[in-house]
Amino acid sequence: MEYSERVKKLPTYIFVEIEKLLSEKRKKGIDLIPLGIGDPDLTTPDLIVNEAIKQIKIPENQNYPSSMGEEDFREAVARWYKVRFGIDLDAENEISNVIGGKEGIANIARAYVNPGDIVLCPNPGYPVYENGATKLIDGQPYLMPLLKKNKFLPDLDTIDTKILRKAKIMYLNYPNNPTGAIAPKDFLKKVTDYAEDYDILIVYDNPYSEFTYGDYISPTVLQLDQSHIEINSASKMFNMTGFRCGWVAGNKDAIKGLRKIKSQIDSGCPMFIQRAVIRGLAEYKSEKKPEIVENTVKIYEKRRDILVKGLNDIGWKTDKPQATFYVWTQIPEKYCNLSCMDFVKKLIDIGVILTPGIGFGQYGEGFVRFALTQPEARIKEAIERIESIIN
Ligand SMILES: Cc1ncc(COP(=O)(O)O)c(C=O)c1O
Repeated sequence: MEYSERVKKLPTYIFVEIEKLLSEKRKKGIDLIPLGIGDPDLTTPDLIVNEAIKQIKIPENQNYPSSMGEEDFREAVARWYKVRFGIDLDAENEISNVIGGKEGIANIARAYVNPGDIVLCPNPGYPVYENGATKLIDGQPYLMPLLKKNKFLPDLDTIDTKILRKAKIMYLNYPNNPTGAIAPKDFLKKVTDYAEDYDILIVYDNPYSEFTYGDYISPTVLQLDQSHIEINSASKMFNMTGFRCGWVAGNKDAIKGLRKIKSQIDSGCPMFIQRAVIRGLAEYKSEKKPEIVENTVKIYEKRRDILVKGLNDIGWKTDKPQATFYVWTQIPEKYCNLSCMDFVKKLIDIGVILTPGIGFGQYGEGFVRFALTQPEARIKEAIERIESIIN
């Protein structure tokens, strides 16, 4: 049988080649330091795990959940927006549960995008915007380049007004994966003004909202304009990537559309998981990160400092990100004639695994991404190995 045209439009998985190389290295017993994938090595806080264990034993939590999320979950999320961002949201109509942010990113587009409609996607960016959310429903991705010279923010003034008029959705993600960039409030103001002028829904994908360093507190687009939506999740906030629990908040028509779609596709995130996440959210008493989150962020901050200093010390010029647990940097000069994929393969030879920038789209070429998801000692070891080939 032939695949549908939609499936044919999806790119071949860029990491297949890398995976093949890695499995060969593993077979040879080579010690690999995985700094590629953005999956935390840190564990879910005990108070959340204990709550999950308690909740799973409650018979009611063993039944089908509602795909829009339980009432107490939506209320806990509304409370979180109030204490964290100072905004009021109605738990009944303006919040929905999703099975991880990824699902929300893909399904929200189904509510608005018709074949041929334009979806504005940051590039480099989380690949789901362009593929799962857009190409899979015959939308047309328009790539907004995130360039170093623009601090990895899209330059809206360069987008043709014809494109803006045809655009239904704009995905934005700050703190940004993969670049580690942040979005100042004046940028968000400009984007919301554009969105109003051209009737575009901003989908503000915010899973790294808590991963900021120093005194910086990351905003949400909803603080400027509640007619858009934010997607967030427990995945990174509480080291819960494997639990699959997130939420979509904001514009009630968008939430209504999303609920309609979800009711035909899934049966929601298990109730015991939603209730474990409620326990985590309850730790927030103000916009400041609670201890369970701060502990994680402090660990990443130290790792970031070690990595960035280490790379600069060995002559690989790298900027320090203000946010996220990623370090995005250009291929070192000695290898600038290589594609990022070939450079990553070279690093695999010495047992260091990074993500090639091209994995996040064409504007990622020339860059690689480190994920700070290994202990300090392993990061130091990776730097030593890199030093052996860099000079
Ligand atoms: C930018 C971005 N958005 C969304 C997600 C999805 O997160 P989840 O589905 O685990 O909530 C990720 C995961 O890495 C991400 O980096």
